[in-house]
Amino acid sequence: MTVLVGYASAHGSTREIAQRLGTRLAELGCPADVVSLDGDVDPRAHGAVVLGSAVHGQHWLPVAEDFVRAHRDVLAERPLWAFSVGLPAALRGPWRRLAGKEERVVLDALALPASLRGHRLLSGVIAPEHVGRAGALMFRLVGGRFGDHRDWQAVDALAADIATALRPGM
Ligand SMILES: Cc1cc2nc3c(=O)[nH]c(=O)nc-3n(C[C@H](O)[C@H](O)[C@H](O)COP(=O)(O)O)c2cc1C
Repeated sequence: MTVLVGYASAHGSTREIAQRLGTRLAELGCPADVVSLDGDVDPRAHGAVVLGSAVHGQHWLPVAEDFVRAHRDVLAERPLWAFSVGLPAALRGPWRRLAGKEERVVLDALALPASLRGHRLLSGVIAPEHVGRAGALMFRLVGGRFGDHRDWQAVDALAADIATALRPGM
């Protein structure tokens, strides 16, 4: 039984998190296929599913939301984990607290099935060229810090949790 790690990424940081999850899962005895949700992905071929997307405007990227909608019945029959890649670590003070509340907004829009075992809001990469001149100005005005905010220990911890849950059945 292999794990599907499906991701949607606009600028690459979510893809690299998904790849790291896949590598760690395999090291922990849970072989994983890491695939972009842009392609023709069939979750029926996998015994467990991990889905992740960059967050834009408090939503997963459209291709990832569409995937959940199209495959909700199949996802409901498999152990499912999800991760969202946003910016909590790039923000400070009240803005960081607001970012924390974003998790609920993202999940409400997805309406993932009850097979969901866990969700993590992770931090990704943000560069001025991703958001344009006005966006970069706004981001700096609210105290945002451009850069790579990924926490690889948190990613590895997610992989360890998934492997611990799956291994008895694999
Ligand atoms: C147009 C745009 C909108 C974004 N909107 C949000 C948002 O609503 N919430 C958030 O936490 N991060 C937001 N971000 C930050 C991205 O989620 C973050 O940079 C993430 O690492 C992107 O992943 P990727 O490199 O896989 O595309 C936004 C980034 C862009 C470029």
